[in-house]
Amino acid sequence: MQPTDCMGLQFANPVGLAAGLDKNGEYIDALAELGFGFIEVGTVTPKPQAGNDKPRLFRLKQADAIINRMGFNNHGVDYLIDNVQRCKYKGNIGINIGKNAATPVEQAADDYVYCLERVYPHASYITVNISSPNTKNLRDLQSGEALTALLYTIKNRHSQLASEYGFYVPLVLKVAPDLEPEQIDYIAKQLIDFEIDGLIATNTTLKRTGVEDLPDGDQAGGLSGRPVSHTSTQILHQFAEQLEDKVTLIGVGGIDSGEKAVKKIKAGAELVQLYTGLIYRGPGLVQSCVQAIGGYYDAIEGQ
Ligand SMILES: Cc1cc2nc3c(=O)[nH]c(=O)nc-3n(C[C@H](O)[C@H](O)[C@H](O)COP(=O)(O)O)c2cc1C
Repeated sequence: MQPTDCMGLQFANPVGLAAGLDKNGEYIDALAELGFGFIEVGTVTPKPQAGNDKPRLFRLKQADAIINRMGFNNHGVDYLIDNVQRCKYKGNIGINIGKNAATPVEQAADDYVYCLERVYPHASYITVNISSPNTKNLRDLQSGEALTALLYTIKNRHSQLASEYGFYVPLVLKVAPDLEPEQIDYIAKQLIDFEIDGLIATNTTLKRTGVEDLPDGDQAGGLSGRPVSHTSTQILHQFAEQLEDKVTLIGVGGIDSGEKAVKKIKAGAELVQLYTGLIYRGPGLVQSCVQAIGGYYDAIEGQ
C-alpha cells in the first residue's frame, strides 16, 4: 500500500504498535520485523518505577480481552532513550510519556515537561498520556482547568524546544474511552486552541460491559480488546466530527481483524494501532490490517 503522510511524517503503512507493549524501547527492531508502519514505546516516566503489585495482568480469553493494572512499570526515561538511540529501525518511533506515581497530580506538568525535554530529539512524535486508569487521578487531567493548564505548560515548552532544536516533533494526546460528550467537546476545543498535532483514541476502559460474568472480569484496571472496540470507535468518530481534519486521529482499541481496522479509518482515523488483538491473533494481524486498509483506499479511489 502507499505510504501515509500525516503530522509532517511519512509512515510506510498506517498500522502501528500501541503503547505499553514495549514500555522501555527494548524490542524495537524485533517488533519492526512484524511489519508495523510505526512503533510507539512507553509509557515512560521521569524516574524508574516498579508499577503495581503482581498479579496485574489478566487474560479474559472468552472475550479476546485483557484487564491490566500494570501502573507504568518502566526503567525511566533515560533508559528508554538509550534503547531508542541504539536501535536500527528507521521508521517512525512515537515516545509515550507519563508521570511517576509518587508525583502529586497537581505537579504532573513537571513530569511531562521533564520527559518532553529528554525525548524531544529522539522521537518521531511524542504522546502525552493522560488516560491510564492505573495511575491515581491521572484521568482528572482530561477535564476542565486541569487539562487547559497542562496543555498550556506542555505546549509552551514544546514550542521552545522546536525553536531550540530547529525541527518540529509532533505532539499527540492520548485519551480514554470513558468520556462524556461534553468532555469530548472540551478536549477537541483544547486540541485546536493549543495546536496539538494528533489524538490517540483510545486507551483502556473502566467499564466491564460484556465481561462481568467472566473469570477475572471484575479485576481492577483497564479493559482492552474486543469489548472496547465499539465504544472506542464511537469516541473516535465523535472526535472526528468535532475536529474536522484539523488534528490527525489515531484509532486504537479492539482491532482484531482487517475489517475492524477499516472501521477505525471510516470513523476518521488516518493511522491505527494494535495491542490486545496482536496477543490473541498473532503477528499476521499486522499484514491483515495493512491489506484491508489498502483495499479500502483502493476501492474509494476507484469510485
Ligand atoms: C498490558 C497493557 C499495558 C498497556 N500499557 C499502556 C501504557 O503504558 N501506555 C498507554 O498509553 N497505553 C497502554 N495500554 C493501552 C494500549 O496502548 C491501547 O490503547 C489499549 O489497550 C486499547 O487497544 P487494544 O484493545 O488493541 O489493546 C496498555 C494496554 C495493555 C493491554
